[in-house]
Amino acid sequence: MTRYLLAIDQGTTSSRAIVFDQTGSSVATDQQEFHQYFPKDGWVEHDAQEIWDSTLAVCRGALTKAGIEASELSGIGITNQRETTVIWDRATGQPIYHAIVWQDRRTASWCTKLKTDGHEDTVVDRTGLLIDPYFSATKIAWILDSVDGARTRAEAGELAFGTVDSWLLWNLTGGQSHYTDATNASRTALFNIHTQEWDDELLQLFRVPRQLLPEVLDSADDYGTTEAEWLGAPVVIAGVAGDQHAALIGQACFEPGMAKSTYGTGCFLMLNTGDRALRSENRLLTTMAYRLNGKPCYAVEGSIFVAGAAMQWLRDGLKLIRHASESTAHAETVGVENPVYLVPAFTGLGAPHWDPHARGAIMGLTRDTGIAEIVTAGLQSVCYQTKDLVRAIQNDGARLESLRVDGGMVVNGWVMQFLADILNVTVDRPRVTETTALGAAYLAGLQTGVYESLEQIGRLWECEHQFHPTMKPALRASLYAGWLDAVERVRND
Ligand code: G3P
Repeated sequence: MTRYLLAIDQGTTSSRAIVFDQTGSSVATDQQEFHQYFPKDGWVEHDAQEIWDSTLAVCRGALTKAGIEASELSGIGITNQRETTVIWDRATGQPIYHAIVWQDRRTASWCTKLKTDGHEDTVVDRTGLLIDPYFSATKIAWILDSVDGARTRAEAGELAFGTVDSWLLWNLTGGQSHYTDATNASRTALFNIHTQEWDDELLQLFRVPRQLLPEVLDSADDYGTTEAEWLGAPVVIAGVAGDQHAALIGQACFEPGMAKSTYGTGCFLMLNTGDRALRSENRLLTTMAYRLNGKPCYAVEGSIFVAGAAMQWLRDGLKLIRHASESTAHAETVGVENPVYLVPAFTGLGAPHWDPHARGAIMGLTRDTGIAEIVTAGLQSVCYQTKDLVRAIQNDGARLESLRVDGGMVVNGWVMQFLADILNVTVDRPRVTETTALGAAYLAGLQTGVYESLEQIGRLWECEHQFHPTMKPALRASLYAGWLDAVERVRND
């Protein structure tokens, strides 16, 4: 008998739901984009209600497309854009402010002050993160200080905080579950990844009342049951992980030394380090890979804020292309030796630079630069940024022989070949590239007995194409030197 799992993948620009069968093959998908709000320079918000409405709609849509009833599901797994911060009223379930999105930079000056005041070491030691507006802590405090009466109400226990996983759980269970998982908790800058507990000193530093916080569970755990009215029958929610962690699971990177890189809005490279939380000397993050049966597994992560979003900007902002797929034809005419560099630091620079004040630029323009060179530079920027991360990982002493890739952009063979060439690492593209959603389904399947072990899941992973590096070392070095020079020019810290 076929066993089905429903994965909710609530991302930065769209909500998706995918029905998988127990072999890890997708049976049906539904997806809805939602509004992005940019109220001021560097501010990015979502309407939390719209996140919930679109999520419910795609869950129903995926079940209809799959032609199955909710009662046929073994369980639901949730994966989500991380760090994005929602605060809501426990009594009414209404958000008290828009969700502040991970890309939002509004707390940059406070973060600079916290660093100048010498707090970064404490944050790194306990959370594995750095002080940056990216993480949830300063966003929570901003909402509490900006919405009338919010801080007092938070202290009285009337409000709840959650990353998007918690917000969806709360709604799916009709306000019964206020939980998060260890991977999502590890992105708040309030969670001690060594003790696996919310950290009082950090709560004090970031001025966040403990009463707001959800309870932290394993990534495969009992998260409650959906209200019957949502999907037609109650379904258990059995897995939760932040999207990059879920992708690591979907890519079956279960052994120390295995790495994946996901190309969505941003690009996030994660290397499994097993039961050791390695501290990076090169400004990478230490984070949870996942937590199963109370046992933490750690990873190092390089986070880049703009990858696919650069192509979206070329399409929707500059209108240089009508569809992302047109970019390949441009890249094929220009070739890899493109003198134009696009640094997409629209919301500052993430790892390994961590410069929230940097802004984007296009460099190397000449009189004969055309659309093709700029579009190609957009594609190449994704690979150069990955190279920045791989270099940092290698400088931290890790050996990276191959990289498993996933996310929307990996269908582009030109980009994947350039990636292998510029990294000088073999790039493995799996049969199923929806690995984020797949990881959430696997977690739910582990908890509900569809799978017995990670080993069993690992055997389901299949490589569809390997891209081997063929570029001459001198060309690789000179192209990358041009990138480093371009990045130096946009830095502002
Ligand atoms: O840390 C932010 C990340 O989780 C967002 O991922 O795929 O929605 O761009 P994505």
